[in-house]
Amino acid sequence: MYVPLSLGSLVLLGIAFAIRAIAAIRTQPSPQLPPGPKGLPLIGNLLQVPSRLVFLKFVEWSKEYGPLASYTVLGQPVVLISSAKAAGDILDRLSSKTSDRPRLIKLAYLTHSMEFAFANRGSFWRTQRRAAHESLNIRAAQKFQPIQEEESRIMVEDLLRHPDIDIAKHIYRHSSSIAWRVLYGHEAIDLRDDKAQVPSENFFEPLFSSAIPGGSIVDIFPFLQPLISRSRFLRRHSEAWYEKANTFFINAHTRPQVPVHLKHIFEVVYGGHASISANSHCGQSPDNDHRGARIPAFEDLEHLPQVEAIVKEILRWRPPTPTGVAHVAEEDIIYNNYLIPKGAVIIPNTWSICRDPSLYRDGDAFDPSRFLDEKGCIRKPPPDSHDDYLVFGHGRRICIGKSLAMNTLLIAVAQLLWAFDFHGVKGEQGNEIVPDPSAFWDNGVTVWPKPHQVRLVPRFPDLFERLKSAAT
Ligand code: HEM
Repeated sequence: MYVPLSLGSLVLLGIAFAIRAIAAIRTQPSPQLPPGPKGLPLIGNLLQVPSRLVFLKFVEWSKEYGPLASYTVLGQPVVLISSAKAAGDILDRLSSKTSDRPRLIKLAYLTHSMEFAFANRGSFWRTQRRAAHESLNIRAAQKFQPIQEEESRIMVEDLLRHPDIDIAKHIYRHSSSIAWRVLYGHEAIDLRDDKAQVPSENFFEPLFSSAIPGGSIVDIFPFLQPLISRSRFLRRHSEAWYEKANTFFINAHTRPQVPVHLKHIFEVVYGGHASISANSHCGQSPDNDHRGARIPAFEDLEHLPQVEAIVKEILRWRPPTPTGVAHVAEEDIIYNNYLIPKGAVIIPNTWSICRDPSLYRDGDAFDPSRFLDEKGCIRKPPPDSHDDYLVFGHGRRICIGKSLAMNTLLIAVAQLLWAFDFHGVKGEQGNEIVPDPSAFWDNGVTVWPKPHQVRLVPRFPDLFERLKSAAT
């Protein structure tokens, strides 16, 4: 039955709806922090957060509490993001509100606040980031390819000549030398030069271990800051580290250079090297066409989608920065009815994000073929996967050295696989010992494999000559 409504009754109806809506809003519980482990009064979850391999705890919590979890440390809320969609929504699409960094007091002592990767989102960070972007963006990074090709070839040659030297040392020389040449325009570093001007492998340890929220006593108990700030004695270790770092960077700038490259990029970029520690013809491997006879170059990579798939899988399966770098919410954010309060630390749980089952089936398995389609070409990356390179972080803070790092890895993997077959070393019974893929070291921010041995078998009897002819 049709009942015509007068204007007056419509207005009354409208008011009635409005009153109900307001009442409903009033009675709705206000959004809460995402779920998480129960903590203790005052200290919250402080004792449950390990200082080493913290990502393993985050993985455990993400399995228990879902893609958005939270915990508190002495009243400081920390939100853990463990899915690619939530990371995309919160850190990419809301990046105008989530691009700040936590205040890291010890790190500020170590670096005299001159470290833009961990700086607050202010004018210092903006200027440094712009300068670094100009020199390291995807197009600019191409000019370093000749250095990267040469450095990979040097690594292959060194491995051939010095199989007795620990493989980790070869890899460290390789990534340090690229940074040394690209950023400061110096000569390649020699594997046997123990007095090389670059910092030793563990030099950045204090920096990285103080780069995780709560990574030092003064960050856990910030009320100690005035005391420490006044006392040079209490800051003596930080000051000594700063002096060493400063001397290194001044030397790096002032030593004679080959050509001048990127002197203006702030030193922090150097630290990035520590993390490194298709197309129409896709589907062809280096040895099933004419290119297989010589060491691969960048121009060959478009024909080698397997190499790109392997690099993607290495970074997905064993992300070197498994807890990313923490962001901070600059205002209250409501996400899926949960509150991420202003000032909350937001941690991208990269290890879990890289295993997000909606993107990667059987995420614990190492399977580069997941990135290839039925024709052997690189598949179209799914939404929120950052072209299947989720390891480089999010939003306005995304890694500035991404292109440099990817190119370094692509050419190194291509050349190593062209040069060698990889085997485990032989055990006493003649069996092959496969290194344990879950044996890690970490320094807070980055994770790398514990020492292990690999047996490299040259794929060509005349490998050395082939390398020599590539060098000339
Ligand atoms: C495989 C190698 C690398 C990985 C996995 C990696 C990963 C990351 C991650 C996760 C972040 C934080 C992103 C975020 O906050 O969401 C980051 C930031 C950064 N990375 Fe890298 N990185 C690598 C190599 C490099 C290299 C080679 C450089 C320098 C040449 C570099 C320089 C930086 C800088 C300066 C930042 C700070 C950006 C900012 O706060 O604005 N990284 N990186």
